Amino acid sequence: MEIFLWLPAAASSGPPAASDGPPMPDVSALPILLRDARPADAPRIAAIYAHHVRHGLASFEEVPPDVAEIARRMADVAGRGFPYLVAEQEGAVAGYAYASPYRARSGYRFSVENSIYLAPAMVGRGIGSRLLADLIVRCEAGPWRQMVAVIGDSANHASIRLHARMGFRSAGVLQAVGFKFGRWVDSVLMQRPLAGSGPG
Ligand SMILES: CC(C)(COP(=O)(O)OP(=O)(O)OC[C@H]1O[C@@H](n2cnc3c(N)ncnc32)[C@H](O)[C@@H]1OP(=O)(O)O)[C@@H](O)C(=O)NCCC(=O)NCCS
Repeated sequence: MEIFLWLPAAASSGPPAASDGPPMPDVSALPILLRDARPADAPRIAAIYAHHVRHGLASFEEVPPDVAEIARRMADVAGRGFPYLVAEQEGAVAGYAYASPYRARSGYRFSVENSIYLAPAMVGRGIGSRLLADLIVRCEAGPWRQMVAVIGDSANHASIRLHARMGFRSAGVLQAVGFKFGRWVDSVLMQRPLAGSGPG
């Protein structure tokens, strides 16, 4: 499934054009395509995720997985029937979002965890909101009844705000459960009900 979305001018929050040199193209005005991820997206997804592993606290992984491992994870998600979406602009993957089991034990089978990462140059343009909104719609077409966000770092205001905007409520903070970049890091838990076909 493919959905074209046009970013409204009001969503433009990218950097202003430099005062010297040629004018920068206004990429925020270009259309965004949301579509299912394909195996060929693995290198770009691996590069986006590697940036956030190396420089951010959203993920508690410390060594970026290689392309083969990302491809394996993508195939695992798709093979279990969960949605895995990418946002594409001008033919390049700008970000991705997917659902996966919240926890492995069978009693958790109607709950999913969401993951969402954008290329660093593409944050703050509304793309995360569009990806997450579409991921929610896709999950509500399945059996799932709760979506859980496990957000690395209490100071990840962009992710906390994004999830709040999408109807997630705070479910608590696990304090200092992570250790990365030489310091203790919280996990912020947020959850949202889903109108999936699982038991009511
Ligand atoms: C978190 C992330 C996916 C959000 O996507 P995005 O496209 O940048 O977010 P949007 O532009 O759709 O904005 C969503 C909301 O967050 C707010 N927001 C965005 N960046 C923000 C920031 N740096 N600080 C505070 N709020 C911010 C927006 O204002 C908007 O709220 P509003 O509608 O009330 O104004 C993206 O920033 C990202 O990839 N971050 C790094 C990885 C990460 O943290 N992933 C989440 C893992 S749980």
